[in-house]
Amino acid sequence: MTPIDWFSLLHPVLVILFVYPVVGATIRLGLLARERRLKIHPQPPTVGVEHADHGRWLTGGIVVAVLIALLYSFISKFVVPEPPFTGGANRLALLLLVIAGTFASLLGLWRAKKAPLRASFALLTWVGLLGLGSQPEIWRLSDNPFSPAFWSSHYWAGVLLTGLMLFSLASKAEIFRSLRMRRLHITANVLASVLFAVMAITGTRDLLEIPLSWQKPAIFSCNFELRTCPAPAQSSVDAPAPAADSVAVSAAAASSSALASVGVGARIS
Ligand code: HEM
Ligand code: HEM
Repeated sequence: MTPIDWFSLLHPVLVILFVYPVVGATIRLGLLARERRLKIHPQPPTVGVEHADHGRWLTGGIVVAVLIALLYSFISKFVVPEPPFTGGANRLALLLLVIAGTFASLLGLWRAKKAPLRASFALLTWVGLLGLGSQPEIWRLSDNPFSPAFWSSHYWAGVLLTGLMLFSLASKAEIFRSLRMRRLHITANVLASVLFAVMAITGTRDLLEIPLSWQKPAIFSCNFELRTCPAPAQSSVDAPAPAADSVAVSAAAASSSALASVGVGARIS
């Protein structure tokens, strides 16, 4: 694996090592906070604050992990000569600036106390992610909500989940204070819990589909509709030429991970 391939693992590794364990603890503490409030079981008075603290780290971890995924997508497209990166180094610098600005908005959200400031920083962070995600370098499967591919898109589920987390973080003070907000919080986070599972499934699926950088030219020359690949170049003099059928079969087997995308569209970028 080349350094850029290792870089591609940073997002999944961060999510698996940091985000998902915190998800478990946050959900558990949320349920304990509810048990305490409804007096189902006696709980220490700190469970609510502990839950909110975990939620803050969870939201921060998710935004950072998404920014890393986006950064990887831009850098990996920039370092390959073909096709050339639209806009060159200037556009890349601008995208890096937006990534830094989005991260600064997250820090602002962490520190802000007043409601309008919290709402503005949460919105800014989310708009930053949406703006970066709308770039052509980002694989989104489909942008059409009426197509089934949209509903299995790792990107769209990810930005929705991030939006829900930012909403929870921005309305922390109101969730503590108001019953109506708490109900809205629970509804939003039941959906978020489902989305966490969706992200794990679609993320591992996408990992299977993405070839290593040096394999890309071979994999992307395959025909994703017919599930066949061109015969590999003959390097050894005495290797017997395989039959046309078996070439297609063995090449297809070798690139089975990329072919997994058939039905939802081949991942060419
Ligand atoms: C997986 C995500 C989450 C789930 C499943 C979840 C679930 C819950 C539940 C069940 C409650 C108890 C509500 C009640 O008392 O009836 C709660 C309360 C609360 N949550 Fe979350 N939550 C999540 C994420 C977050 C995040 C990201 C924050 C933001 C910091 C947050 C902040 C709060 C606050 C402030 C309360 C009120 C605690 C109290 O009244 O003592 N939650 N949550
Ligand atoms: C909280 C959970 C997660 C969130 C919010 C999330 C969010 C995202 C977002 C928004 C992107 C698009 C950025 C881009 O393509 O550059 C992305 C990319 C990616 N994610 Fe995740 N992700 C999560 C979990 C996972 C997991 C568990 C894995 C794998 C084990 C994974 C693997 C990937 C891969 C391989 C990509 C790059 C290409 C793509 O599929 O778009 N993600 N993620």
